[in-house]
Amino acid sequence: MSTHIGAYSDQIAPYVLMPGDPYRARWIAETFLEDPVQFNDVRGMLGYTGTYAGVRVSVQGSGMGQPSLAIYAQELFADHDVQAIIRVGTCGALSERVSVRDVILGVAASTDSAMNVPRFRHVSYAPAADFDLLRIASDVAEEKLLPLVPGGLFSTDQFYDPDPAVTSTLAEYGVLGVDMEAAALYTLAAQFSRRALALCTVSDHLVTGQETSAHERQETFEDMIVVALESVVRLEGAPRS
Ligand code: HPA
Repeated sequence: MSTHIGAYSDQIAPYVLMPGDPYRARWIAETFLEDPVQFNDVRGMLGYTGTYAGVRVSVQGSGMGQPSLAIYAQELFADHDVQAIIRVGTCGALSERVSVRDVILGVAASTDSAMNVPRFRHVSYAPAADFDLLRIASDVAEEKLLPLVPGGLFSTDQFYDPDPAVTSTLAEYGVLGVDMEAAALYTLAAQFSRRALALCTVSDHLVTGQETSAHERQETFEDMIVVALESVVRLEGAPRS
């Protein structure tokens, strides 16, 4: 048991999909996993383990924002020996290179958070995705004709950004989407020498104002979960680089 995850480590798989919303965790487990068993409900942050194509996989909600995600990711890596976490979330689009319904493959995650200041002091660390997971997810998506758009994410601490000017500068530097979690996930995976990847469907467009229906968003989200789960299956068979 760890402080915020009320489960024994053998109840949690080495691979974890991590949506922000705990109800999404339940929906993913019930829709895609065989024999899902709930292992966590501390503070309503639901976690489940089941199997997908014969591979044990867990799904654990992270809550919103880097401090919340960091609690769950830290406990999964440090206390439950989790080897890889794939964030399956949503983001806002910052660039006209992406549209709503696209799925961004988060190559790196910039942040305005001060979370890494005590860790790296004056150095601005560059949180990045695991290369093998990036490559595998990209291959899986291409084979399934579910294109991913590789690019940077911006993990902000402020959903209601008081200074939107910075996001246009970030877009000029190849940052495609804004979320609130990926940078902390990538930093913690690096700390514990584990793997992490963030996949984010574009739920809203900050430049064009474009939106999609709830139904379309759900369909795209489902495609993204399939890419994440198939990537886990392929990772299970891949040697550690
Ligand atoms: N900002 C931050 N996080 C988000 C957004 C956004 O516009 N959309 C989805 N996650």
